[in-house]
Amino acid sequence: MKAAVALALLMSAGMAQAAPDGATIYNRCAACHTRTGAGVPGAYPPLGADFRALAAKPGGRRYLALAVIKGLNGPISVEGKAYRGMMPAQGGLDDAGIAAVLNHVGGTIARTGPAFKPFTDQEVAGYRAGAKTLGAADVAKLHEGAGGK
Ligand code: HEC
Repeated sequence: MKAAVALALLMSAGMAQAAPDGATIYNRCAACHTRTGAGVPGAYPPLGADFRALAAKPGGRRYLALAVIKGLNGPISVEGKAYRGMMPAQGGLDDAGIAAVLNHVGGTIARTGPAFKPFTDQEVAGYRAGAKTLGAADVAKLHEGAGGK
């Protein structure tokens, strides 16, 4: 009986701390953007200087979160190269999952650009709530004015 209680306590403590792991979620991004985030020029943009420059601006942060939530259907220009691709909306990620993967990219994958300020779950929730009618093409239009590279 005591052991069962201890086990239940251990499990609930573990679950309370089970924040989504951005590195694990990034595996799905790596299928296109590559493991290092270098991307494939002309097909899959790098997650690097443009990402960090965008993450330093309010409009850029909104764009980055919505790109993952809604998908992205350009044209966009990233580090001087044109992309006319289609990124599918990344389904199955709640606000905490979106924040975790953006923070993994900003903190570990993207290595150049301004200092990275992490996203919070609440911040992502706000962008999601304010963009109910936006689609992937609308999100791509946000790129140009959002302060990227
Ligand atoms: C099926 C391929 C694919 C997957 C999976 C994918 N992306 Fe993308 N991503 C793209 C393409 C293609 C673009 C460029 C879209 C365009 O040309 O409009 C893009 C663009 C982006 C951009 C905009 C970059 C910039 O500098 O403006 C971000 C940010 C991004 N992806 C993040 C992610 C994250 C994070 C994940 C994982 C949760 C992910 N992507 C998964 C294909 C993908």
